[in-house]
Amino acid sequence: MSDDTGGGRGGFHTDLGFVLAAAGSAVGLGNIWKFPYNTGEYGGGAFVLVYLGCIALVGLPLLYGEMIIGRRGGKDVLSSMAALTAQSGIAGTLATWGVGLLAVGSGFFILSFYAVVAGWALHFVALSVGLASANPAGSEATFTALAGDGPLSAWWHTVFMVLVVLVVAAGVQSGIERACKILMPALMGILLLLLAYVSVTGGLGSSLSFLFRPDFSKLSAEAVLEALGHAFFTLSLGMGAMVTYGSYLASDRHVVRDQLAVALLDTAIALLAGLVIFAVVFSMGAEPGAGPGLVFITLPDLFRQIPGGGVVSLAFFLLLVVAAWSSGISLLEVVVALAVDRFGWSRRMAAIGIGILIWGLGLPSAFSGEFLDFMDNLTTRYMLPIGGFLIALSAGWLLSKEDREAGFAALPGGGTSLATTWTFTIRFITPALVLLVILNGLGLF
Ligand code: PHE
Repeated sequence: MSDDTGGGRGGFHTDLGFVLAAAGSAVGLGNIWKFPYNTGEYGGGAFVLVYLGCIALVGLPLLYGEMIIGRRGGKDVLSSMAALTAQSGIAGTLATWGVGLLAVGSGFFILSFYAVVAGWALHFVALSVGLASANPAGSEATFTALAGDGPLSAWWHTVFMVLVVLVVAAGVQSGIERACKILMPALMGILLLLLAYVSVTGGLGSSLSFLFRPDFSKLSAEAVLEALGHAFFTLSLGMGAMVTYGSYLASDRHVVRDQLAVALLDTAIALLAGLVIFAVVFSMGAEPGAGPGLVFITLPDLFRQIPGGGVVSLAFFLLLVVAAWSSGISLLEVVVALAVDRFGWSRRMAAIGIGILIWGLGLPSAFSGEFLDFMDNLTTRYMLPIGGFLIALSAGWLLSKEDREAGFAALPGGGTSLATTWTFTIRFITPALVLLVILNGLGLF
């Protein structure tokens, strides 16, 4: 197989490479940092249940929709949308530009704060190997000293951005695919080792019942909005990341299978990460509801007390860095692909130039936690769901039947009933749910 698929713009060399890259995009800080702390804050099982419902009714249908738009469009998110909705007149034009602008905005905004948080994880790797020193006053002080230290946060943010730019500049096959083929197995290996560790040291039972025994009294409108937003965030939906990766696929053949694999991997890894983290938390009698500080304050604190804590700490923060890296790559790739396909920039120039802009946009987040939260909420709660809403409507109503159902048609037996179920879901259920939750989040009910 050659690097050239879809008009000579390069593509994934193997199907496994595609799945690992797409799963690499999906599995990130969302799974290992956000999902556990959200679950802790919103009371455990009930939040997990709503999140799983969102994955099934919104995430899965949209994941297929995005991948098929990319696969059939064969270009960056804006050009793919334009090509596939051309026959729909003004509605197609509006959807194309709406999705395109939101995609570029989300790519910039998310990566800008994402790199700051990933940078903190890098600092903790440095701490774990003794390259930096912890604050003698304890974990809380160590984290506050890092997050409150603008230049230090900005330094690690810079390191992370360089790592991301290097891979994206190297290309789809020799950069992204190659990196993800190493990063994803490493990530799964580390996670399984951590799981083996907690199954010996205890806490698994309480962790399981915290994650899977729902207490609905804890469920608020805000929790539902957060769960939906998180379903978008964790599957990298609503901003064309999966459209962009789908455009590097050589055929329609495995789109259905691949999107299932990606969603399953992402969900399994979030649940496993939660399981490990809460096992450590409960085995030490600590509090699960610490919020964003859960993995940066509570865990380091516990790591200092448990047997072999130094090694466990290194493994955990490496896991976080690896997960964040492959996601950061896909965030940058959305914008780079657009610059390359649409404006004919060279990949290297696009990766470096756009990387520098995003790096600059990240500086305010490195210097202010409030700004970081603002960027996070703006993108996760609003931009991604609105982008996803537009993509769902486009996939369901504006695409031709042939494009829309291409992935199902490639299944043995023609996949007709699956295609019908999917079309109904993406036309009615997915957009209605997203709309309800957005309006509810805006306080309109
Ligand atoms: N899915 C990634 C995570 O869970 C974040 C991400 C969002 C990546 C949107 C790409 C696009 O961390």
